[in-house]
Amino acid sequence: MLVSQAVDSRAKPLLRRIKRHVWAPTHTFVAATGRGAEGVLGEELSALGLVAASAEPGAVEFEGRLTDLYRCNLESRLAERIWWRLLDCRDRGSGHLASRLAELPWEALLGPGFDLEVSVTGPGLDQAARQRLAALVQKSYAALRGAGPGPTEAPPQRLLLRRAERRWRLGLDSSGERLHRRGYRLDAARAPLRETLGAAVLTLAGYGPLRPLWDPMCGSGTLLIEAAQVARDMAPGRGRAFAFQTWANFREATWRHLIKRAGDRVRPACPAPIVGLDRHPAAVRATQDNARRAGVAADLRVGRGDFFDLEPIGGPPGLVVVNPPYGQRLRLTKSPAGFYGLLGRHLRRCFPGWRAAVLVPALELAGALALGSAASHVLKSGGRRIFLVTADLDRD
Ligand SMILES: C[S@@+](CC[C@H](N)C(=O)[O-])C[C@H]1O[C@@H](n2cnc3c(N)ncnc32)[C@H](O)[C@@H]1O
Repeated sequence: MLVSQAVDSRAKPLLRRIKRHVWAPTHTFVAATGRGAEGVLGEELSALGLVAASAEPGAVEFEGRLTDLYRCNLESRLAERIWWRLLDCRDRGSGHLASRLAELPWEALLGPGFDLEVSVTGPGLDQAARQRLAALVQKSYAALRGAGPGPTEAPPQRLLLRRAERRWRLGLDSSGERLHRRGYRLDAARAPLRETLGAAVLTLAGYGPLRPLWDPMCGSGTLLIEAAQVARDMAPGRGRAFAFQTWANFREATWRHLIKRAGDRVRPACPAPIVGLDRHPAAVRATQDNARRAGVAADLRVGRGDFFDLEPIGGPPGLVVVNPPYGQRLRLTKSPAGFYGLLGRHLRRCFPGWRAAVLVPALELAGALALGSAASHVLKSGGRRIFLVTADLDRD
């Protein structure tokens, strides 16, 4: 990659160590996501040219250089957080772990003056053991902790020490705030989907920008906005800050280059209509406000209306995606199955020949939709299991 490198103000010995330990080698990174989205996250990483090494529930591991870590934070629509694995060693007791931690070149990995927020997980570790282990990590960094000045007002750096399969793995969080926080949504809406989950739903439903998209219960507009950003090829992280920008090894010029390249490739408009409907005026306003902050206001057509008053949609078929209210918010009928039956019937009537994707809170309700031969995917939303049902609706 061609990047014009300004004169670096870092002291030469430190720069040498940063090059040796951070810029030159490849590293292992772990992209965390919601359960059920690992498969599509692996595919997304491949599309970014990154080689996914392995997957486990809720996470995909990949190898890469520091630039790949930046790219993944900037470009991934599906990852919630990207960890940089600083240590991976066999569990030979806490003395061995302490000496491995003490070998970490913290001045090149992180730099001085940060507070560390260390979590410890692993089977059979009680609270006292977790506290002792967290203290080992803190101790390995202690000399640098007080060696200030450190970046002013930088939030604490998050680390996760995890024991699994008789190994210790230490990860440093490169993202900071979770990646679903793209910066366009103020969380005032009712039951919004996380932006990353919205992106996973669109991917699993096979959304393609050349076909129209409808969300007739759009709430705060997450699905519509995520779709518009896909259609215009907008990098989801281009408007926010990341933890890696505060590290001593941060490559400012490389980052500016990535941001510029992401900006240069944005398409001027969506090639096909993206349409939203909600019966609550506040939801319509929230969608419009969020879309404006996301830079896609002109790409959406959003209006107030009741889905059950819709007449059949003309024009070329596309994708209709619905995240209906559920649980206590479902007051339209006493029977959830009755509601999903009506929903399915009205989808078939209004969107013949379209692909439908509906989120349901329980698998038996997928049957009540009666969408024909449907596939379902299990996902997690707000700690609970939800099911995405996708089906191609019959033509008239
Ligand atoms: C679970 S929320 C959708 C959340 C949305 N996916 C988001 O991320 O913000 C369900 C939405 O459906 C709307 N709604 C419920 N019944 C409706 C109907 N019959 N017609 C149109 N909108 C409806 C509610 O007003 C609410 O905003």
